[in-house]
Amino acid sequence: MLIAGSKSRPKVSVETFGLFRDLLYKRCGISLSDSKRYLIETRLSGRLAAMKLKSFEDYYYYLIYDKNKEIEMNNLIGCMVTNETSFYRDRPQLDGFINGVIPDVVKRREKDIIKELRVWSSASSTGEEPYTLAMMMMDKGLHLKGWRITVIGSDISDGVLHSARRAGYEGYTLRNVPDDVKKKYFFKSGENYSVVKRVKDLVTFKKINMMDRKAMGGVKGVDVVFCRNVLIYFDDPSRKAVLTHLYDSLRPGGYLFLGFSESLHNLTRLFTPVKMGHTLVYKKT
Ligand SMILES: C[S@@+](CC[C@H](N)C(=O)[O-])C[C@H]1O[C@@H](n2cnc3c(N)ncnc32)[C@H](O)[C@@H]1O
Repeated sequence: MLIAGSKSRPKVSVETFGLFRDLLYKRCGISLSDSKRYLIETRLSGRLAAMKLKSFEDYYYYLIYDKNKEIEMNNLIGCMVTNETSFYRDRPQLDGFINGVIPDVVKRREKDIIKELRVWSSASSTGEEPYTLAMMMMDKGLHLKGWRITVIGSDISDGVLHSARRAGYEGYTLRNVPDDVKKKYFFKSGENYSVVKRVKDLVTFKKINMMDRKAMGGVKGVDVVFCRNVLIYFDDPSRKAVLTHLYDSLRPGGYLFLGFSESLHNLTRLFTPVKMGHTLVYKKT
């Protein structure tokens, strides 16, 4: 429905909001309560304008029936979730990773014939998180001690994965990077910073929707999984399903990191909370 007046934003009816809510839930687990109707209006009216569609109903039917619906579905998801991230985000957690978790994994796997450390950033956004993890492991010299480092970055959004693979960044997203790390693992291109090849080579990006059981099941033998700042978009049944997939992806004794303000409380007892420095990590037992 378009409200009269050229400057007014299209409104979404209760029924059409229900259609979008169900579509987003089914396709990517995003859970919108009734009070979030305004989000559809504020975040998607730009898509209507871009596609020269008059109403949210038209947009919905485009997403269901058009031959380009998958491309547009990507745009829709991109508008509904925030991709906010940065290098060296939440330093106490990263210190727990490199000074507590990694030494434990290395000790446990020291006698393994295949010395590969596999770390998964399961909602990697534009790549800052997986590149940070790769830089930290490289900085510890693990590759010099015979360890092959593999970091998998995955996300639902093609747009962020494209940026992640390009690995070029504005200065602001490097605001927490220590100077010595900046010197070693980035080079300046114009005003921007690019990740050096030897770090890029450690990271592989894949498109994985966390709601897709088969795709999630394809990542195996992981030592550490990061699932930070994404569970907030899901409801409890979807969170539980994701956590079960992440559990299955981990080796015995592997570790899970959630966002700083997220917890497993009331979601699963599959993991044991372990204090590492100033942070809480979850261990597969
Ligand atoms: C706020 S960012 C978190 C980035 C990074 N983990 C961090 O903490 O800095 C959330 C990311 O989750 C992704 N996402 C949302 N729903 C998803 C889903 N169903 N499957 C995979 N990724 C999803 C979004 O595309 C977005 O890039």
